[in-house]
Amino acid sequence: MRAMTIAGAGGPEVLTLQQIERPLRVSAEVLVRVVAAGVNPVDAKTRAGKGAFAAAHTFPLVLGNDFSGVVVEAPFEAHPLQPGTEVYGMGMVPRMAGAYAEYLTVSALSVVRKPPALSHVEAAGVPLAALTAWGMVVETAKAHEGQRILIHAGAGGVGHFAVQFAAYFGAHVIATSSQRNASWLRELGASEVIDYTAVRFEQQVSDIDAVIDLIGNVSDDTGSRSLTTMRPGGLMVNGPTGSWPTMMADAAAAGMRATGFRVSPDGSTLAVISRLLESGDVRVFVDRVFDLEDAALAHEAIESGHTRGKLVLKVAEG
Ligand SMILES: NC(=O)c1ccc[n+]([C@@H]2O[C@H](COP(=O)([O-])OP(=O)(O)OC[C@H]3O[C@@H](n4cnc5c(N)ncnc54)[C@H](OP(=O)(O)O)[C@@H]3O)[C@@H](O)[C@H]2O)c1
Repeated sequence: MRAMTIAGAGGPEVLTLQQIERPLRVSAEVLVRVVAAGVNPVDAKTRAGKGAFAAAHTFPLVLGNDFSGVVVEAPFEAHPLQPGTEVYGMGMVPRMAGAYAEYLTVSALSVVRKPPALSHVEAAGVPLAALTAWGMVVETAKAHEGQRILIHAGAGGVGHFAVQFAAYFGAHVIATSSQRNASWLRELGASEVIDYTAVRFEQQVSDIDAVIDLIGNVSDDTGSRSLTTMRPGGLMVNGPTGSWPTMMADAAAAGMRATGFRVSPDGSTLAVISRLLESGDVRVFVDRVFDLEDAALAHEAIESGHTRGKLVLKVAEG
Protein backbone atom coordinates (compact mmCIF):
# COMPACT_ATOMS: atom_id res chain seq x y z
CA MET A 1 0.00 0.00 0.00
CA ARG A 2 1.04 3.67 -0.40
CA ALA A 3 2.13 5.21 2.89
CA MET A 4 3.80 8.43 3.97
CA THR A 5 6.57 7.26 6.27
CA ILE A 6 9.54 8.47 8.28
CA ALA A 7 12.73 6.47 8.77
CA GLY A 8 13.81 8.73 11.64
CA ALA A 9 13.27 12.15 13.15
CA GLY A 10 13.83 15.36 11.22
CA GLY A 11 12.25 18.23 9.31
CA PRO A 12 9.25 17.88 6.96
CA GLU A 13 11.66 16.60 4.27
CA VAL A 14 12.01 13.25 6.10
CA LEU A 15 8.43 12.39 5.09
CA THR A 16 8.80 9.81 2.33
CA LEU A 17 6.13 8.17 0.18
CA GLN A 18 6.73 4.41 0.10
CA GLN A 19 5.08 1.12 -0.81
CA ILE A 20 4.86 -0.94 2.40
CA GLU A 21 2.96 -4.02 3.54
CA ARG A 22 -0.70 -3.58 4.39
CA PRO A 23 -1.18 -4.00 8.19
CA LEU A 24 -2.74 -7.24 9.41
CA ARG A 25 -5.95 -6.99 11.38
CA VAL A 26 -6.02 -9.03 14.61
CA SER A 27 -8.71 -9.87 17.15
CA ALA A 28 -11.18 -7.00 17.85
CA GLU A 29 -9.61 -4.60 15.36
CA VAL A 30 -11.16 -3.31 12.17
CA LEU A 31 -9.17 -2.95 8.95
CA VAL A 32 -10.01 0.41 7.40
CA ARG A 33 -9.32 1.71 3.89
CA VAL A 34 -8.35 5.32 4.61
CA VAL A 35 -9.86 8.05 2.45
CA ALA A 36 -8.63 11.07 4.41
CA ALA A 37 -6.37 11.69 7.42
CA GLY A 38 -6.33 14.56 9.90
CA VAL A 39 -3.12 16.54 10.39
CA ASN A 40 -2.41 17.42 14.02
CA PRO A 41 0.42 19.22 15.82
CA VAL A 42 1.37 15.89 17.48
CA ASP A 43 2.18 14.47 14.02
CA ALA A 44 4.70 17.22 13.37
CA LYS A 45 6.10 17.04 16.91
CA THR A 46 6.57 13.27 16.56
CA ARG A 47 8.20 13.67 13.13
CA ALA A 48 10.58 16.21 14.69
CA GLY A 49 11.63 13.66 17.33
CA LYS A 50 9.71 15.15 20.24
CA GLY A 51 7.18 13.71 22.71
CA ALA A 52 5.49 10.65 21.21
CA PHE A 53 8.57 9.88 19.08
CA ALA A 54 9.92 8.07 22.15
CA ALA A 55 7.09 5.54 21.73
CA ALA A 56 8.09 4.76 18.13
CA HIS A 57 9.98 1.50 17.99
CA THR A 58 9.35 0.33 14.44
CA PHE A 59 10.58 2.10 11.33
CA PRO A 60 9.56 3.11 8.78
CA LEU A 61 6.89 4.74 10.94
CA VAL A 62 3.58 5.83 9.43
CA LEU A 63 2.33 9.03 11.08
CA GLY A 64 -1.28 10.13 11.46
CA ASN A 65 -3.77 9.61 14.28
CA ASP A 66 -7.24 10.35 12.94
CA PHE A 67 -8.94 9.34 9.75
CA SER A 68 -12.12 8.73 7.82
CA GLY A 69 -12.55 5.74 5.56
CA VAL A 70 -14.33 2.48 4.83
CA VAL A 71 -14.28 -0.80 6.79
CA VAL A 72 -12.62 -3.61 4.81
CA GLU A 73 -12.58 -6.32 7.50
CA ALA A 74 -14.74 -6.49 10.65
CA PRO A 75 -13.68 -8.25 13.89
CA PHE A 76 -16.39 -10.91 13.54
CA GLU A 77 -19.38 -11.87 11.39
CA ALA A 78 -22.14 -10.13 13.36
CA HIS A 79 -20.11 -7.01 14.22
CA PRO A 80 -22.09 -3.81 13.55
CA LEU A 81 -19.26 -2.28 11.50
CA GLN A 82 -19.44 -4.58 8.49
CA PRO A 83 -17.22 -4.24 5.39
CA GLY A 84 -18.36 -1.25 3.37
CA THR A 85 -19.38 0.81 6.43
CA GLU A 86 -18.08 4.38 6.31
CA VAL A 87 -16.34 5.11 9.62
CA TYR A 88 -14.15 7.71 11.29
CA GLY A 89 -12.06 7.68 14.43
CA MET A 90 -8.60 7.83 15.90
CA GLY A 91 -5.99 5.43 17.20
CA MET A 92 -4.32 5.30 20.57
CA VAL A 93 -2.13 8.34 21.25
CA PRO A 94 0.87 8.45 21.34
CA ARG A 95 1.30 5.35 19.20
CA MET A 96 0.32 6.47 15.74
CA ALA A 97 -2.63 4.75 14.09
CA GLY A 98 -0.78 5.18 10.80
CA ALA A 99 -3.46 7.22 9.07
CA TYR A 100 -1.08 8.65 6.43
CA ALA A 101 -1.55 5.41 4.47
CA GLU A 102 -4.09 3.56 2.36
CA TYR A 103 -4.97 1.08 5.14
CA LEU A 104 -4.81 0.96 8.93
CA THR A 105 -5.98 -1.32 11.73
CA VAL A 106 -7.54 0.07 14.88
CA SER A 107 -9.60 -1.11 17.85
CA ALA A 108 -13.26 -1.36 16.87
CA LEU A 109 -14.06 0.65 20.04
CA SER A 110 -12.23 3.64 18.57
CA VAL A 111 -14.31 4.07 15.41
CA VAL A 112 -17.93 4.91 14.71
CA ARG A 113 -20.06 5.43 11.64
CA LYS A 114 -19.17 8.58 9.73
CA PRO A 115 -22.02 11.12 9.85
CA PRO A 116 -23.48 10.92 6.32
CA ALA A 117 -23.74 14.71 6.16
CA LEU A 118 -19.94 15.00 6.31
CA SER A 119 -17.52 14.18 3.50
CA HIS A 120 -14.55 11.95 4.37
CA VAL A 121 -12.31 15.03 4.23
CA GLU A 122 -14.49 16.86 6.75
CA ALA A 123 -14.85 13.80 8.99
CA ALA A 124 -11.08 13.20 9.10
CA GLY A 125 -10.67 16.63 10.69
CA VAL A 126 -12.89 15.76 13.62
CA PRO A 127 -11.79 12.89 15.91
CA LEU A 128 -8.58 13.93 17.66
CA ALA A 129 -9.37 17.66 17.86
CA ALA A 130 -13.02 17.24 18.83
CA LEU A 131 -12.34 14.53 21.43
CA THR A 132 -9.67 16.77 22.94
CA ALA A 133 -12.06 19.73 23.05
CA TRP A 134 -14.84 17.56 24.52
CA GLY A 135 -12.52 16.12 27.17
CA MET A 136 -11.25 19.55 28.21
CA VAL A 137 -14.46 21.60 27.94
CA VAL A 138 -17.28 19.17 28.68
CA GLU A 139 -15.79 16.40 30.81
CA THR A 140 -13.15 18.37 32.75
CA ALA A 141 -14.39 21.99 32.88
CA LYS A 142 -18.04 20.83 32.86
CA ALA A 143 -19.23 23.66 30.61
CA HIS A 144 -22.57 25.06 31.78
CA GLU A 145 -24.80 28.09 31.65
CA GLY A 146 -23.46 31.14 33.44
CA GLN A 147 -19.89 29.83 33.47
CA ARG A 148 -17.19 32.15 32.08
CA ILE A 149 -14.72 30.17 29.97
CA LEU A 150 -11.55 31.62 28.45
CA ILE A 151 -10.34 29.57 25.48
CA HIS A 152 -6.83 30.21 24.14
CA ALA A 153 -6.19 29.45 20.45
CA GLY A 154 -9.93 29.37 19.80
CA ALA A 155 -9.36 29.39 16.03
CA GLY A 156 -7.26 26.22 15.85
CA GLY A 157 -8.23 22.59 15.35
CA VAL A 158 -9.03 21.92 18.99
CA GLY A 159 -10.04 25.50 19.74
CA HIS A 160 -12.82 25.83 17.17
CA PHE A 161 -14.51 22.74 18.63
CA ALA A 162 -13.87 23.98 22.19
CA VAL A 163 -15.61 27.28 21.42
CA GLN A 164 -18.61 25.49 19.91
CA PHE A 165 -18.98 22.91 22.71
CA ALA A 166 -18.69 25.55 25.44
CA ALA A 167 -21.27 27.76 23.72
CA TYR A 168 -23.57 24.77 23.08
CA PHE A 169 -23.66 24.02 26.81
CA GLY A 170 -24.46 27.65 27.59
CA ALA A 171 -21.16 29.03 28.82
CA HIS A 172 -20.07 32.63 28.22
CA VAL A 173 -17.15 32.06 25.85
CA ILE A 174 -14.18 34.39 25.60
CA ALA A 175 -11.66 33.26 22.99
CA THR A 176 -8.22 34.51 22.05
CA SER A 177 -7.18 34.69 18.40
CA SER A 178 -5.69 37.13 15.92
CA GLN A 179 -8.01 39.74 14.45
CA ARG A 180 -8.55 37.83 11.18
CA ASN A 181 -10.39 35.06 13.05
CA ALA A 182 -12.49 37.25 15.35
CA SER A 183 -15.76 37.48 13.40
CA TRP A 184 -15.61 33.77 12.49
CA LEU A 185 -15.22 32.83 16.16
CA ARG A 186 -18.23 34.98 17.05
CA GLU A 187 -20.22 33.04 14.42
CA LEU A 188 -19.13 29.81 16.16
CA GLY A 189 -20.48 31.06 19.51
CA ALA A 190 -17.79 33.17 21.18
CA SER A 191 -19.31 36.10 23.06
CA GLU A 192 -16.00 37.96 23.18
CA VAL A 193 -12.82 37.58 21.13
CA ILE A 194 -9.53 39.08 22.28
CA ASP A 195 -6.83 39.78 19.70
CA TYR A 196 -3.81 38.40 21.53
CA THR A 197 -1.46 40.15 19.07
CA ALA A 198 -2.79 43.59 20.00
CA VAL A 199 -3.64 43.50 23.71
CA ARG A 200 -2.67 41.68 26.89
CA PHE A 201 -5.66 39.41 27.46
CA GLU A 202 -5.25 39.56 31.24
CA GLN A 203 -5.98 43.31 31.07
CA GLN A 204 -9.26 42.64 29.23
CA VAL A 205 -10.86 39.79 31.19
CA SER A 206 -11.37 38.78 34.80
CA ASP A 207 -13.54 36.52 36.93
CA ILE A 208 -12.93 33.51 34.65
CA ASP A 209 -14.27 30.19 35.97
CA ALA A 210 -12.27 27.95 33.64
CA VAL A 211 -9.40 28.44 31.20
CA ILE A 212 -9.06 26.05 28.27
CA ASP A 213 -5.39 26.60 27.64
CA LEU A 214 -4.22 25.37 24.23
CA ILE A 215 -1.08 27.54 24.29
CA GLY A 216 0.34 27.11 27.81
CA ASN A 217 3.79 28.59 28.24
CA VAL A 218 4.80 27.62 24.70
CA SER A 219 4.26 31.27 23.78
CA ASP A 220 4.47 34.51 25.76
CA ASP A 221 3.74 32.93 29.19
CA THR A 222 0.11 32.53 28.12
CA GLY A 223 -0.56 29.89 30.78
CA SER A 224 1.02 31.77 33.67
CA ARG A 225 -0.67 35.04 32.67
CA SER A 226 -4.03 33.26 32.51
CA LEU A 227 -3.93 32.58 36.26
CA THR A 228 -4.46 36.29 36.88
CA THR A 229 -7.73 36.27 34.89
CA MET A 230 -9.40 33.65 37.09
CA ARG A 231 -11.72 33.90 40.06
CA PRO A 232 -10.41 32.27 43.26
CA GLY A 233 -10.70 28.50 42.91
CA GLY A 234 -11.06 28.69 39.11
CA LEU A 235 -9.92 25.74 36.99
CA MET A 236 -7.04 25.75 34.51
CA VAL A 237 -7.18 22.93 31.91
CA ASN A 238 -3.93 22.75 29.97
CA GLY A 239 -3.42 20.95 26.63
CA PRO A 240 0.29 21.43 25.77
CA THR A 241 1.15 19.62 28.97
CA GLY A 242 4.96 19.71 28.60
CA SER A 243 5.16 23.47 28.20
CA TRP A 244 4.60 24.48 31.79
CA PRO A 245 6.25 22.11 34.29
CA THR A 246 5.48 24.35 37.31
CA MET A 247 1.76 24.68 36.48
CA MET A 248 0.41 22.79 39.50
CA ALA A 249 2.56 24.72 41.98
CA ASP A 250 1.90 28.07 40.26
CA ALA A 251 -1.86 27.47 40.27
CA ALA A 252 -1.90 26.37 43.92
CA ALA A 253 0.11 29.45 44.93
CA ALA A 254 -2.47 31.63 43.14
CA GLY A 255 -5.40 29.83 44.80
CA MET A 256 -6.52 28.08 41.61
CA ARG A 257 -7.06 24.49 40.55
CA ALA A 258 -5.21 23.11 37.53
CA THR A 259 -4.93 19.95 35.48
CA GLY A 260 -3.28 18.73 32.33
CA PHE A 261 -5.31 16.78 29.80
CA ARG A 262 -4.48 13.93 27.41
CA VAL A 263 -6.83 12.72 24.72
CA SER A 264 -7.76 9.05 24.22
CA PRO A 265 -9.73 7.37 21.46
CA ASP A 266 -13.36 6.99 22.53
CA GLY A 267 -15.98 5.78 20.07
CA SER A 268 -18.92 6.39 22.43
CA THR A 269 -18.06 10.06 22.87
CA LEU A 270 -17.33 10.42 19.17
CA ALA A 271 -20.83 9.05 18.49
CA VAL A 272 -22.29 11.86 20.63
CA ILE A 273 -20.19 14.41 18.74
CA SER A 274 -21.53 12.86 15.50
CA ARG A 275 -25.05 13.79 16.58
CA LEU A 276 -24.04 17.43 17.07
CA LEU A 277 -22.38 17.45 13.65
CA GLU A 278 -25.47 15.87 12.06
CA SER A 279 -27.81 18.40 13.65
CA GLY A 280 -25.57 21.28 12.57
CA ASP A 281 -25.12 22.48 16.17
CA VAL A 282 -21.38 21.94 15.70
CA ARG A 283 -19.39 22.33 12.49
CA VAL A 284 -15.91 21.26 11.44
CA PHE A 285 -13.94 23.82 9.45
CA VAL A 286 -11.32 22.42 7.07
CA ASP A 287 -8.80 25.13 6.27
CA ARG A 288 -6.76 23.30 3.61
CA VAL A 289 -6.65 19.85 1.99
CA PHE A 290 -3.36 18.36 0.81
CA ASP A 291 -2.71 15.22 -1.25
CA LEU A 292 -0.92 12.46 0.67
CA GLU A 293 2.16 13.17 -1.48
CA ASP A 294 2.22 16.71 -0.11
CA ALA A 295 2.30 15.75 3.58
CA ALA A 296 5.52 17.77 4.01
CA LEU A 297 3.63 20.92 2.95
CA ALA A 298 0.88 20.06 5.43
CA HIS A 299 3.48 19.72 8.18
CA GLU A 300 4.98 23.09 7.31
CA ALA A 301 1.48 24.56 7.51
CA ILE A 302 0.61 22.99 10.89
CA GLU A 303 4.00 24.06 12.26
CA SER A 304 3.23 27.68 11.33
CA GLY A 305 0.81 27.60 14.28
CA HIS A 306 -1.81 29.66 12.46
CA THR A 307 -4.18 27.12 10.94
CA ARG A 308 -7.85 28.06 11.03
CA GLY A 309 -9.72 24.90 12.03
CA LYS A 310 -8.20 21.78 10.50
CA LEU A 311 -5.73 20.57 7.88
CA VAL A 312 -6.53 17.27 6.15
CA LEU A 313 -4.64 14.88 3.86
CA LYS A 314 -6.58 13.31 0.98
CA VAL A 315 -5.29 9.74 0.86
CA ALA A 316 -7.59 8.15 -1.74
CA GLU A 317 -10.89 8.59 -3.55
CA GLY A 318 -13.94 7.86 -1.38
N1 LIG B 1 -3.01 17.02 25.44
C1 LIG B 1 -3.72 16.58 24.41
O1 LIG B 1 -4.34 15.52 24.47
C2 LIG B 1 -3.74 17.39 23.15
C3 LIG B 1 -4.58 17.01 22.10
C4 LIG B 1 -4.61 17.81 20.95
C5 LIG B 1 -3.81 18.95 20.87
N2 LIG B 1 -2.98 19.24 21.89
C6 LIG B 1 -2.10 20.43 21.84
O2 LIG B 1 -2.93 21.59 21.92
C7 LIG B 1 -2.39 22.63 21.12
C8 LIG B 1 -3.45 23.10 20.11
O3 LIG B 1 -3.70 22.07 19.15
P1 LIG B 1 -4.47 22.41 17.80
O4 LIG B 1 -4.61 21.17 17.03
O5 LIG B 1 -5.68 23.21 18.08
O6 LIG B 1 -3.37 23.37 17.11
P2 LIG B 1 -3.51 24.28 15.82
O7 LIG B 1 -4.71 23.93 15.03
O8 LIG B 1 -2.19 24.25 15.13
O9 LIG B 1 -3.72 25.77 16.45
C9 LIG B 1 -3.56 26.85 15.58
C10 LIG B 1 -4.24 28.07 16.19
O10 LIG B 1 -3.47 28.60 17.27
C11 LIG B 1 -3.75 30.00 17.33
N3 LIG B 1 -2.68 30.67 18.07
C12 LIG B 1 -1.35 30.60 17.82
N4 LIG B 1 -0.67 31.30 18.78
C13 LIG B 1 -1.61 31.81 19.63
C14 LIG B 1 -1.54 32.59 20.82
N5 LIG B 1 -0.36 32.99 21.33
N6 LIG B 1 -2.69 32.90 21.45
C15 LIG B 1 -3.89 32.50 20.96
N7 LIG B 1 -4.03 31.74 19.83
C16 LIG B 1 -2.89 31.41 19.18
C17 LIG B 1 -3.82 30.43 15.89
O11 LIG B 1 -4.70 31.52 15.80
P3 LIG B 1 -4.29 32.81 14.91
O12 LIG B 1 -3.96 32.29 13.54
O13 LIG B 1 -5.49 33.67 14.96
O14 LIG B 1 -3.06 33.38 15.57
C18 LIG B 1 -4.38 29.18 15.17
O15 LIG B 1 -5.74 29.31 14.84
C19 LIG B 1 -1.12 22.05 20.48
O16 LIG B 1 -0.02 22.38 21.28
C20 LIG B 1 -1.36 20.56 20.53
O17 LIG B 1 -0.17 19.80 20.51
C21 LIG B 1 -2.92 18.51 23.04
